[in-house]
Amino acid sequence: MNTGDPTRAASATRAARSAGPCCFVIFGASGDLTHRLLVPALYNLAAGGLLPEAFAIIGVARGEMSNDAFRSDLAQGLRRFAVRNVDQATADRLFACATYVNGNADDPSTYERLDRELARVERTCATGGNRLFYLATPPVAFAPISSHLGRSSIAREENGAWRRLIIEKPFGTDLASAQALNRHLLALLQEHQIYRIDHYLGKETVQNILVLRFANGLFEPIWNRDHIDHVQITVAEALTVGHRGRFYDATGALRDMVPNHLFQLLSLVAMEPPARFEAQAVRSEKAQALDAVHVPDEEASLQDAVRAQYVAAWVGDNEVEDYRRTADVSPDSTTETYVALKLMVDNWRWAGVPFYLRTGKALKSRRTEVAIKFKQAPFAMFRDTPVDQLAQNFLVISIQPDECIGLHFNAKVPGPVIAISGVDMTFRYQDYFDAAPSTGYETLIYDCMIGDAILFQRADGVEAGWRVVQPFLDAWRDSGSNGLAYYKAGSEGPQEADQLLARDGRRWRPIV
Ligand code: BG6
Repeated sequence: MNTGDPTRAASATRAARSAGPCCFVIFGASGDLTHRLLVPALYNLAAGGLLPEAFAIIGVARGEMSNDAFRSDLAQGLRRFAVRNVDQATADRLFACATYVNGNADDPSTYERLDRELARVERTCATGGNRLFYLATPPVAFAPISSHLGRSSIAREENGAWRRLIIEKPFGTDLASAQALNRHLLALLQEHQIYRIDHYLGKETVQNILVLRFANGLFEPIWNRDHIDHVQITVAEALTVGHRGRFYDATGALRDMVPNHLFQLLSLVAMEPPARFEAQAVRSEKAQALDAVHVPDEEASLQDAVRAQYVAAWVGDNEVEDYRRTADVSPDSTTETYVALKLMVDNWRWAGVPFYLRTGKALKSRRTEVAIKFKQAPFAMFRDTPVDQLAQNFLVISIQPDECIGLHFNAKVPGPVIAISGVDMTFRYQDYFDAAPSTGYETLIYDCMIGDAILFQRADGVEAGWRVVQPFLDAWRDSGSNGLAYYKAGSEGPQEADQLLARDGRRWRPIV
């Protein structure tokens, strides 16, 4: 809906151009990620005119499949998971140059076949030698695939052609393994070739945090410890662990969500303004913000964290069983499905301002938000009036499912006596912008194709995140079930998480 407001005319931007020629190589081409997200995202890029004319797809996976069978598999995936109406001609063009190479990630002959297929495709589809390798595989395959690509000439940049590798999450399972994976990759490829994905950065509402902070003169002067009381970051999911028991039981909420998604949000809120809107500058500031997070020792980490597991109850109309009864989960598992942390960012801007983070499965509803709580106005002026309290001032950046930014402030209730009530002023994306439905992967893929790494993680950022969570992982491993809390599925989390804030005289915003 366009409100016809003339002040909005300043929103004109340069239209995006289609990316240059390239061959998109998908490892794990028969997997869920390829069908559910990559193919619909590629289709949306094609429909938006952002893919080049000279574009080819090579799928690599274990099973035997003809090129025709692969193309119809992609088309089927698209029909099933497309987020927009599919125009047959666009889909046919997208898959016209799609071929398939079968083989195991650790078998050298796979790469010989891939090398030959790349040479053939580059001749027939004129993709100019530019290659994007997408590792849509389980993490065990990251090292063998990158070793083979790095040691052969397949991923070597030469004759002006680029070679880039997108690597999916999880990037390591702790600090040591993330460092080892970075060392491994950087011995084979250069940092500018490596695109570590975090799908949170594909969300428009997440990208907008930078714009909200730095394209407005309004917020930055008060974005500091003088004016901000604390920050709450919530990623609540109503979904249970479902069929992911094996992965999840070995992972837990902390590893699964915090060093990646929640820390993306934290670093965008906490970072200093970068000198330029450009990948190196932005990522340096984000990494420095994470680097400034105080890393507690094991004992302190137990004080400032809550971990909990859901037990049987209802999430809405769905009956949920105990986490421990989920398929492939150990019946005496101590893996957390919920985590709440209090973190301090030890720098000039944020000294003394707690960042409270929480995330969990099987909660009351799905809600991701960043809430900035401003310091309370002095009450003195209203002492002798009927007013007995003031509402809290929050700036709430709602990431999903609502996409909006709200400011909560106090207003006078109309009437002859002074009465004050908290009110909301809300900007909703849908009221201003007509964004076509998307998977969230479009911008990430397009950016990689044009060589813009602003929305991807650099090695130092990834390691800074793991460095902060490592003491929590260690402390919980050492304490087993001691200190593990429980919460009812469908609730807002364990009481212990409320106490984490209550002891500082604060409370969580409701998960609604
Ligand atoms: C993934 C986690 O990275 O993010 C999942 O592995 C989680 O457990 C998902 O459900 C959440 O993503 P989103 O975009 O639904 O918030």
